[in-house]
Amino acid sequence: MMAHLNMTRRAFCVGSAAALSLRPGFAATDPITLTAQAKTRQILPEDYPETRVWTYDGELPGPLIRARQGERMTRRLVNGLDVPTSIHWHGIRIDNAMDGVAGLTQEAVPPGGSFDYDFALPDAGTYWYHAHTNSMEQVARGLSGPLIVEEADAPDVDRDEVLMLDDRLVDPDSGQLFDDFDQPMMQSHGGRQGNLIGTNWQYRLELPAKSGERMRLRLINAANARTFVLRLQGLSGWRVALDGMPLERPVPVMEEIVLAPAQRVDLFVDVTAPEGETAAILRLDDDDQWRAQVGFPVAGIHATASRGAPAPLPPNPNTGLPDLGAARRLDMVMEGGAMGRLNTATFEGDELGFRALVNRGQFWALAGQVGVSETPFADLSRGEPIRIRIENRTVFPHAMHLHGMHFREVAANGTLGPLRDTVLSIPNETTEIALTADNPGKWLFHCHMLGHAASGMTTWMNVA
Ligand code: C2O
Ligand code: CU
Repeated sequence: MMAHLNMTRRAFCVGSAAALSLRPGFAATDPITLTAQAKTRQILPEDYPETRVWTYDGELPGPLIRARQGERMTRRLVNGLDVPTSIHWHGIRIDNAMDGVAGLTQEAVPPGGSFDYDFALPDAGTYWYHAHTNSMEQVARGLSGPLIVEEADAPDVDRDEVLMLDDRLVDPDSGQLFDDFDQPMMQSHGGRQGNLIGTNWQYRLELPAKSGERMRLRLINAANARTFVLRLQGLSGWRVALDGMPLERPVPVMEEIVLAPAQRVDLFVDVTAPEGETAAILRLDDDDQWRAQVGFPVAGIHATASRGAPAPLPPNPNTGLPDLGAARRLDMVMEGGAMGRLNTATFEGDELGFRALVNRGQFWALAGQVGVSETPFADLSRGEPIRIRIENRTVFPHAMHLHGMHFREVAANGTLGPLRDTVLSIPNETTEIALTADNPGKWLFHCHMLGHAASGMTTWMNVA
C-alpha cells in the first residue's frame, strides 16, 4: 500500500487521443473511483479469525493518495455499503461543496450511489480523508486513508513514510469490532479507546532502516478518541509541519510529541541508532509504560556524517496572520460529559436539562448548544478576522477541528502560533484561536473525538 501509484497523474497521462483509442470504454473524464465496501481482513494475530471491516477499495488504511500541490483532485465515491456515506478531505482548504459533510454541504450518498469529488489542492502537506456520515461508526469500522500533497520541489530526505496511528476496539473472543459505537459510557467519558493499537493497521509495524538515513515521517492520528504521546528512540528529529502546514523553522524534538485525534505532524528524523539496534517511535501506554509504536530495525549504514539541521519546507500560499486588533471576539464554553457541570442547553430548539439530554443520547454542549442547529455559532463575512476563546469546563480533553480553514493559537502574551486545523483543549483551561475567515461556506467546528461529536460537540460557522 506504500507503493500505491499516483493514480491522478496516470489518469492525466492517458488523456491523449492515441492512448484513449487503445483503451476503449475508458473516457479521460471518468474520475478514479474510491469504493466504500465491507470486507473481512486479518488485522489480529494469525490465531484470531478475520475481522469484518469497512474499507475504501478493500484497503486498510484506505488507498494512499499522493497528489501534487496545485493539481485538482478528482475521486468518484462509490457507495458499496448498505448505509449512506460521504467523504471529508480533512485539512484541505477546500471548496465548501466538496467538504463531504452529510446534511450540511451535501446529501449523503445512498447505497449503490456515487458522488464526484473535484477540488483544487492549494496547499502541500499531510492530510487525510475519512467518512463524514455517522463518522463515529464509519471511521471506527475502517473508512479513512492518507492524502499527501507533495511540494513542487521534493525536500532533501532519503525516504518518505506515511504512518497512520490508530486504535481499534476489538472483542478478543470473537475477533470482531465491538459494534456498540454509541455506547453512552464511552461517549460521556473519554470516547472510544481501542485495545488494538497500531500503525497503518499493523499492530507492530517495523520498517527496516539504515544508520544515518534521513526520513520524513508523516504521522496522522486517525484514532476515534486516543491522544498519542510519543517519544523518539535512536532517532534525532525535527518537527517540520503541523496539520499539513509547514513550520517557519524546523523545531528540534526535545520533548514528547502529543498528537490529538485528527492532528498530524511531519518529522524529519536522522537514524542515529547503530547497526543491529532498533530505532523506534515509542508511545506512552495506558499503563504508563513506553512501548514501540513503530520500530526501525537498523541494518546497513547510509551515512556516518551528520547532515545538520534541515531547511524549512516551502511555505504554502495565503498563510498571512489574522489581524488580532480588528478581530471580532467570540466565546465558546464547552460543557457536559460525565462529572461535568452542564445544567441546561439547547437541543433541536428546546432548552433541556442534563437528564433530558442524556435521555436523548446527548452529553455535550458548545456555547450552550447541543449539536448542529439551524443557526450557526457564528455568521461571518468573507475576509473577517475572528478570535474564539474556547473554555473547557469539562473534565476531559477535546480535539477541536475546524473545517475548510486553518487557525492559529493565540498565546497568553498575544503571540500567534503555527497554523493548525485541530487544537487540543485541556480541562479547566482556555484556548484562544484566531483566523481570517477567508473561505466562504458552511464549515463544521467539532470535537474530533468522534463519540463526543456525535453526542453534542458539533457546531458550525457560516462564511458569506
Ligand atoms: Cu476529520 Cu469533521 O472531520
Ligand atoms: Cu471531545
